[in-house]
Amino acid sequence: MRAYTPLTITDAVLEQMANTPDPRMKEVMEAAVRHLHAFAREVNLTPAEWIKGIEFMTKVGQACTPARQEFILLSDTLGLSALVNIMHDKTKLEEATSASLLGPFFRENTPIFASGAQIAKKTEGVEVVLFGRVTNAHGAPLPNAQVTVWQTAADGRYDIQNGIEEIDCRGIFRTDADGNYLIQTVRPLGYFIPLDGPVGQMVMSQKRHGMRPAHIHFLISAPNYRELVTALYLAGDAHLEDDVVFGASGDLVAEVKDGDPACPIKGLPSIHFDFNLARESEDDKRAGRVGADPAAVTAGNGQTTKPYGAPPAEIADAAGPKKSGIFSGLFRGR
Ligand code: BEZ
Ligand code: FE
Repeated sequence: MRAYTPLTITDAVLEQMANTPDPRMKEVMEAAVRHLHAFAREVNLTPAEWIKGIEFMTKVGQACTPARQEFILLSDTLGLSALVNIMHDKTKLEEATSASLLGPFFRENTPIFASGAQIAKKTEGVEVVLFGRVTNAHGAPLPNAQVTVWQTAADGRYDIQNGIEEIDCRGIFRTDADGNYLIQTVRPLGYFIPLDGPVGQMVMSQKRHGMRPAHIHFLISAPNYRELVTALYLAGDAHLEDDVVFGASGDLVAEVKDGDPACPIKGLPSIHFDFNLARESEDDKRAGRVGADPAAVTAGNGQTTKPYGAPPAEIADAAGPKKSGIFSGLFRGR
């Protein structure tokens, strides 16, 4: 009979898994076991702490609905999504625009718009034009590329946070024959990630502010090019350097300019940004995205898809000045 020690238990588990037929699954699971065991040894994990961790992950799973993916949020706030994204970005065949997080608010159900259309149903905020070109890595235009865009409304909330049936501030556009895209929107606000669930509890218990800098998400694709999942971060936002999900990066910071003569729509502030796509490799076809529409990952668990709650008042108050809107203190970096 074997007597396991804190060290030999790891090898015993690896031995039992040794016949896993899929080599990649074997590699990933072996590393997961080695690192999990090393973690437990390093912190000398107690039974009470272990069950607390199990309870936490149970709550994370229970918070998931077709409108909410709490595990993605956990991965985001632990920097795992950013790490996987950065590693994937380094495998591009050619230099091209950097990737950024897809986040938990992307959804497949997105309306198609004609070039130049306004995606926000309510334009109470500052209207902004987004324009530029989609090109290959050498600057040649990519006509008819698909440009999907999504962002918060002027109150700092995504449509899906108000209910799964809400669709606003998102749209699918196409580039013209010269690779140009043209979109009208409202200026997005920096916002709190959802803090009303177990991940929010974790973030607040770590005394983190819980905010993302103002940004606009883009998903850009063209046949034979690597799909680009990225976001533009608004220059001047107070949280560009300490994004709670580590998505903001310097080369994706864009300025909102007044009176840019290059802007095709006159009289509105605008952001001019050109996106470059790398050629697609065989591996890219299988790589997938770091993130997904919550409805695509989470089948209904019997729970109603209730709207996301507001962050606690003391957190919202600490974040800055208030303005009208469903959430207070949501707009930083304007
Ligand atoms: C977002 O940018 O939509 C996002 C990303 C990670 C966590 C929460 C929100
Ligand atoms: Fe976002």
